[in-house]
Amino acid sequence: MPTIVTTAALPGRAPEILAAVGDVRSGPASGRLSREELLALVAGADVVASMLYDRVDDEFLDAVGPQLRGICNVAVGFDNIDLAACARRGVVVTNTPGVLDDATADLAFALILAARRRLGEGERLIRAGRPWAWGLDFMVGHDLRGGRLGIVGLGGIGSRVAARGRAFGMEIAYFSRGDSPHAAELEAIRLDLDELLATSDVLSLHSPLTPETQHLIGARELALMKPTATLVNTARGAVIDEPALAEALRDGVIANAGLDVFEHEPDVHPGLLELENVVLVPHIGSSTTETRDAMAELAADNAVAILRGEDPPTPVHPPAVD
Ligand code: DGY
Repeated sequence: MPTIVTTAALPGRAPEILAAVGDVRSGPASGRLSREELLALVAGADVVASMLYDRVDDEFLDAVGPQLRGICNVAVGFDNIDLAACARRGVVVTNTPGVLDDATADLAFALILAARRRLGEGERLIRAGRPWAWGLDFMVGHDLRGGRLGIVGLGGIGSRVAARGRAFGMEIAYFSRGDSPHAAELEAIRLDLDELLATSDVLSLHSPLTPETQHLIGARELALMKPTATLVNTARGAVIDEPALAEALRDGVIANAGLDVFEHEPDVHPGLLELENVVLVPHIGSSTTETRDAMAELAADNAVAILRGEDPPTPVHPPAVD
């Protein structure tokens, strides 16, 4: 029987799917292993189901051993995996696209609403027992209807956010490397990034983290945005330069932001913690029971296919071997 290691205990039917084809060894259901514990756990595995916080690099691959055939990340993002190192060893890498699109889009839209209508601020005010009274100028936010929703990366998740924006009466514009297949049905116009920044009322980020998108949104980009604009990030924290964002929010360069992801999770830039005009949630975009089950089951299906020598359902295409 092959050995399958899941670096965290998987929910849903995944354990059952895996147990039918191999001996399964799992990390904890909650909490994380130290690097040392992780490397000891994965030693000897034929397939590893990894989490987005596991750094899969040469050290990790050496610790697993030469029998390794697949790394099945339980996440759509795979910036934690050194694809070139896997390719050099002939290790197949898979991720979990599609199954988390709606859950993540729901959370992105919740952040858009929370930021535009100042929900975090209002909640904190009431819980702190501070005095308040209805007034024409009290806690005024911004409408969504009639505004432009700018999407950076109109793929699976971005297009679902855009569909929600359309339902709220927003116009959709996007920035992507190429034309998006979702653009026509969303009546979305493609713009260059600077024009998208300058004309969007809400900007929602859905790009994977790559060397090209690291700190894609920094001081220069924030300065191009409207002073009434909202920035939302449910992609990866490092797509934004956090200190620059904290400064822009403090100085009124943009109105507000909603963040689900941070560059150095679980740490949040201290400048952001002090501000009223940013909604902060702890990387919960895909965190629903149904979606987490589906992610784990897709990762398990990928693992089974790799062990059977079949094409996995959702491979990550490797870079050219150097
Ligand atoms: C992913 O799958 O990459 C998400 O960030 C998980 O929430």
